[in-house]
Amino acid sequence: MTGLLLGPVLRYADADSATVWVETDAACDVEVLGTTTPTFGVGGHHYALVVLRDLPSDTATPYEVRLDGELVWPPPGSTLPPSRIRTSAQRPEHFTLVFGSCQHPRVDPVDRPDTLGPHALAAYAQRMAAQDQQDWPDALLLLGDQVYADETSPATQDWLATRRDLTTPPGTEVADFEEYTYLYREAWSGELLRWLLSTVPTAMIFDDHDVRDDWNTSQAWRREMAATPWWRQRIRGGLASYWIYQHLGNLRPVDLDEDEVYARVLRSGRDGDALELLEDFAEWADSEADGATAYRWSYRRDYGPVRLVVIDNRAGRVVAEGVRKMVGDEEFDWIEHNAVSTPDHVEHLFLASTLPWLLPPAISDVESHNEVASARPGSRGERGERIRQGLDLEHWAAFRESFDRLSALLLRSVRSGTATASVLSGDVHHSYIAKARYPDAPDAPVYQLTCSPLHNAAPRKMRWLFRMGWWPALVRLTRFAARRAGVADPPLSWDRLAGPYFGNEVATVSIRGRHAEVRLEQATTADGRLGLRPMTRQVLANG
Ligand SMILES: [Fe+2]
Repeated sequence: MTGLLLGPVLRYADADSATVWVETDAACDVEVLGTTTPTFGVGGHHYALVVLRDLPSDTATPYEVRLDGELVWPPPGSTLPPSRIRTSAQRPEHFTLVFGSCQHPRVDPVDRPDTLGPHALAAYAQRMAAQDQQDWPDALLLLGDQVYADETSPATQDWLATRRDLTTPPGTEVADFEEYTYLYREAWSGELLRWLLSTVPTAMIFDDHDVRDDWNTSQAWRREMAATPWWRQRIRGGLASYWIYQHLGNLRPVDLDEDEVYARVLRSGRDGDALELLEDFAEWADSEADGATAYRWSYRRDYGPVRLVVIDNRAGRVVAEGVRKMVGDEEFDWIEHNAVSTPDHVEHLFLASTLPWLLPPAISDVESHNEVASARPGSRGERGERIRQGLDLEHWAAFRESFDRLSALLLRSVRSGTATASVLSGDVHHSYIAKARYPDAPDAPVYQLTCSPLHNAAPRKMRWLFRMGWWPALVRLTRFAARRAGVADPPLSWDRLAGPYFGNEVATVSIRGRHAEVRLEQATTADGRLGLRPMTRQVLANG
């Protein structure tokens, strides 16, 4: 009998359509709610995205998964509620989005305590399972570092050692597509997380560890990688697997209908193999960072009057000779158009960027300063580059032109009438909420909401830096130094409303009309039981 390896992952749901993703252990026909789709093959693995259309709006329908007619989901003996697809109302009155980033696999043997602490999404799923379904969130957003290709777990390393010599580069990092599939298996197999993903529509985007630490931080970094014998296979496998496991489900049914890569993959057929096709595509998409126009990984989702634009701030960078952009021009034009220029009524704008836009201000200054220093010729520039890579100075402020463009975009959004405009981020392994203060619009409801990690930790030394980065005396110093290096002051200032919090956390944004609020909760284990502790609740706009 054909088995279900991963999923079902409910990736998309609107008022009348939905998509459900699966990985199976053989080629087969996948059936969900009466719609049957054949799998496609990649590198000996089998996947399907079942697109459900013409669903009735504003309903919650429990679903099962059948492979070649045999029931495989829900798993036998499951005590969790049935997975269900909830379609939205045509005009939803309220909306709840849960988000977080960075889920590292366990680093300890399973019979020992987990030194990274309880997984925030597992804690969230456990609470959800006991709640009334009316209280379940409408969407989940995973902001990168879903797999750590460069920091594998002891269990993964044991498996890698059965395939190849780990004393030869890339050593304990993953090497190719096949090894990536193992990482996803490890990341998405836990009972609670798997159930959560089966019943809350999830949007995703990569960050650096999905490929490698500091991915595309600079032109020098890309040259270093290109010079290694293993990089080409890594990026081919990394982006091909990302396309299958994460990107495909980000697309709306209407986008899927027009997606050329998806059409070619489907044409390869149930018994074909699209690995080479997807790896060639991956390599082409990677060339965008050298200045070529390539694939747009950024995408948009609408939840009634709530708009989410998910920004690719990794593969879409341009780090070519004399050019440093967080997002290439054409893709940024697309982001601006979708954020503020479409005719639809948008009440709240959320721009998802794995990397925070507003950091602790002293760190922000240091990043802008470092960008200028690294561009200097000779050994001074090389020292700047070493500091950049060593301290991960690669957030928006380290791409100052893009920082300014994003700052202007958010202000334009609230000036055009949205009740709030916020950037949702992860990456930095701590959580905080900040409010922007533009000189000529100090009360503009523009926010930075950062929630990280779901399951990871921040080193003690970094915790100090993340706290000190908000100290006004230190900010005066870093600003003074940046000015002396010729860095213009940022076009706005910002205040910390909450945090920094250290621990495994999940954020919940709740919208009702023009009212918006955000909560941060930390995963805990009291008496061995998973739980969530409230850290803060902030009202972003009073409706
Ligand atoms: Fe991370």
